[in-house]
Amino acid sequence: MTPWLTDLFAQQTGDLPVEVWLEPFAGGAGAALTLLDRDAIGEAWLVDANPGIAAFWETVVTDGPALADVVERTVPTLDLYDASRALLEAPEAADRFRLGFAAFIVNRCSRSGIVAPTSGPMGGRTPSGDWSVGARFTAAALADRIRHVHSMRDRLRVHHGDGITFLEELGDSGLSDEVVAFVDPPYIREGNRLYTAGLDQAGHQRLADALNNTPARWVLTYDDEPVVADTLYPHRRVLGYDIRNTANRARVAREYAVFSDNVDVRGLGTPLNGLPAEWVREHAA
Ligand SMILES: C[S@@+](CC[C@H](N)C(=O)[O-])C[C@H]1O[C@@H](n2cnc3c(N)ncnc32)[C@H](O)[C@@H]1O
Repeated sequence: MTPWLTDLFAQQTGDLPVEVWLEPFAGGAGAALTLLDRDAIGEAWLVDANPGIAAFWETVVTDGPALADVVERTVPTLDLYDASRALLEAPEAADRFRLGFAAFIVNRCSRSGIVAPTSGPMGGRTPSGDWSVGARFTAAALADRIRHVHSMRDRLRVHHGDGITFLEELGDSGLSDEVVAFVDPPYIREGNRLYTAGLDQAGHQRLADALNNTPARWVLTYDDEPVVADTLYPHRRVLGYDIRNTANRARVAREYAVFSDNVDVRGLGTPLNGLPAEWVREHAA
């Protein structure tokens, strides 16, 4: 999806230059970092409600080289995995550096990659568990990646908190003209199973109220639940598109993208590597 998002960002114009890419549900911040890397955006602002995830990004910004050195020396074990998971369950007990490192260990060493107390270790708890828990932990490459993101720190802002409140407050900040928000919340079907910080029905509605009322430009991605076009965003443009599952490329799932009325999508054509896409609602109602 990133090339499509790059083009989308590039074609937004206004009285002020559009400079900021905001991810109010940042998680791994995949799109933001790729776009920063390509100089496709000026700045990226990351917001996440999960204290471990926010602590990780904050540490990359403030203390990236030290974190990278620790990562480079780490050989994951089940004991380290369990201690990291325990820290995530009591985040107030740890300082930011240790919490951020713990979140990174749980992300890289879990079967799902999800930073949650329900995550289980790669390879399970077999006698060879200490070998397989680190199967995805390419220490030198991960450390280099952290150093690289740290090198872009002047263009990164990280905020631990509720992404919906952040969006609500953006309208009064005077900055909304310069921002495109890429909103990738926990999904309606699966979201609460996957994330420590999930969204219930009232949360999805609060998000819709915030987005439907903000003057900022935004693009929202969701699973293809009818409630998205019918109830949450009954007046906005909604595009259905197919996307390949990252874990199993043969599987294709349908998702929805919803657009604020002021986001210019003209000429962008079919997103996502030529996979099918069609409008559920092509014109704002
Ligand atoms: C679908 S993931 C985002 C994936 C992201 N686009 C990526 O590339 O990894 C959702 C993220 O939203 C976070 N989250 C859930 N509820 C939140 C809230 N109310 N405010 C901010 N972040 C929230 C979760 O902690 C999780 O990291």
